[in-house]
Amino acid sequence: MAYKTIQVKTEGRVGVITLDRPEALNALCDALTGELADALAKFESDDGIGCVVLTGSKKAFAAGADIKELQGRDFIGLYLNDPFEKTWESVARFRKPIIAAVSGYALGGGCEIAMMCDFIIASTTAKFGQPEINLGVMPGSGGTQRLPRAVGKAKAMDLCLTGRQMTAEEAERAGLVSRIVAVDELMDVAMEAAESIASKSLPIAMMTKEAINRSFEIGLTEGVRWERRVFQSQFTTEDQTEGMEAFAEKRAAHFKHK
Ligand code: HXC
Repeated sequence: MAYKTIQVKTEGRVGVITLDRPEALNALCDALTGELADALAKFESDDGIGCVVLTGSKKAFAAGADIKELQGRDFIGLYLNDPFEKTWESVARFRKPIIAAVSGYALGGGCEIAMMCDFIIASTTAKFGQPEINLGVMPGSGGTQRLPRAVGKAKAMDLCLTGRQMTAEEAERAGLVSRIVAVDELMDVAMEAAESIASKSLPIAMMTKEAINRSFEIGLTEGVRWERRVFQSQFTTEDQTEGMEAFAEKRAAHFKHK
């Protein structure tokens, strides 16, 4: 499939998806979301990929859903055929690690899609917000659910009710962003992190991601019990044997399943 609104490339074991609709600040139109879902499905089934980086331009990661497309929708149309559901599921349920590298605007659906990724590396110019209230709607792709889990109730209420934007610095202080870097270093840093992740055992990285995501779904006692079982099961893997042997032999581990 030749893509028109995203760019896709592979560097070693890292897949890179760049949102590419500069004329609309990467607004998430139907064409873009369809292409994004397609690219993610291909990376998911490609054994050569161990981690994905999702990024945009310097000016915008994504300025939200495409308002000009949304404008003409009605309830029944959205209910029967939600254009976003499949794409959002493909990001939120992507099983391999995925990093959002955010520069410029990450607003509305743009902020929500970044929050669906496993962590966000932001440039100093990144701006996060849920401005939907200014359009007469509320966030509809996880903003009212993932944002409070990331930044707490007070800041999530503040952002969703006022529609204001938050700087990268405020986002990092609040826990939405894992690191802030200079704009020109954003992709280098994101790629370095992705390469590091992709060099580990893929199934173990996937289980780690699954376990952390599970902590948002279930209680602590069940979560810890489930973690322990998965941890124990990892002692059936060749990668556990190799990782611990390599440590004892003071050499780098060469994981088989990567
Ligand atoms: C469609 C958009 C867009 C969007 C920007 N553009 N954001 N088009 N949908 N979300 C277009 C503009 O119309 C304009 O096109 C071009 O991109 C450049 O934008 P400007 O506004 O001229 O740029 P600037 O003055 O720098 O302002 C940047 C901005 C502003 C602050 C990001 O564009 C803005 O407020 N955008 C909307 C942000 C927003 O409300 N997002 C939430 C969307 S709702 P032309 O052709 O005029 O040059 C949402 C719901 C998700 O995300 C839930 C889904 C179920």
